[in-house]
Amino acid sequence: MKQEMMAVLSNEMIAQNVYEMKLSGLLCSEIKEAGQFIHIKLADQSMILRRPISVSSYDENSLTILYKVVGKGTDAMTELKSGDVLDVLGPLGNGFKLDFLKNFNLDSRVLIVGAGIGIAPLYELALKLKEMDVVMDICLSFKTASEAYYVNKFSALGNVFISTDDGSLGMQGYAEDLVKTLGVSYSAVFSCGPRIVLSFVQEYFSLIKHVYVSLEERMACGFGACYGCDTKDKKKRVCKEGPVFNSHEVAI
Ligand code: FES
Repeated sequence: MKQEMMAVLSNEMIAQNVYEMKLSGLLCSEIKEAGQFIHIKLADQSMILRRPISVSSYDENSLTILYKVVGKGTDAMTELKSGDVLDVLGPLGNGFKLDFLKNFNLDSRVLIVGAGIGIAPLYELALKLKEMDVVMDICLSFKTASEAYYVNKFSALGNVFISTDDGSLGMQGYAEDLVKTLGVSYSAVFSCGPRIVLSFVQEYFSLIKHVYVSLEERMACGFGACYGCDTKDKKKRVCKEGPVFNSHEVAI
């Protein structure tokens, strides 16, 4: 883990209220897994707490984050432009561990389920699965068409299925409705999104051993020191033991 002033390379709106920011810095070379996150501190002293944001893709020198504008902090982030610097702590947390897939049959199929801004960390996951030649079905759910992002990027990696709450893109329905159209015959399932979606995934795929969920939680320290991000049963810290957990081992 490093604390570093990372350079902003770009910061663009890619869908309604959704921004993509690229950053460069030394800590990129320490990221090991899809699903890890960085903790961002904004320069405005009125916003003391850092904000945890998952990494949506990375290489040795740069990383990309996607964020949704939901309040003062994320709104301030939209003002950053190329050449600015950002105080970042990271990489933090445990991501999606994929070693178990090496023992799977070649005809194994996995399912990715993402909703809203929770789709962001699943992009690096899908890139890694593609590198491993894993066949993917990818469910992406949004509120409405104008909030949809990365659909083409995911389509280049697997079979994409889309739903929106209002039916303006893909099937009308929630992530749960979309997943139910595909059934349960998967070797592994990976998901990130609102708690209600993760809880559904946990229950619906309860007979599958390899089901991994990435939890979203408010955080203070981000590295396990304050116990401010406990899971529902108070047994695990989302920032330290997670944010990615085997769904059989966590209370959602
Ligand atoms: Fe402090 Fe997780 S945010 S322990």
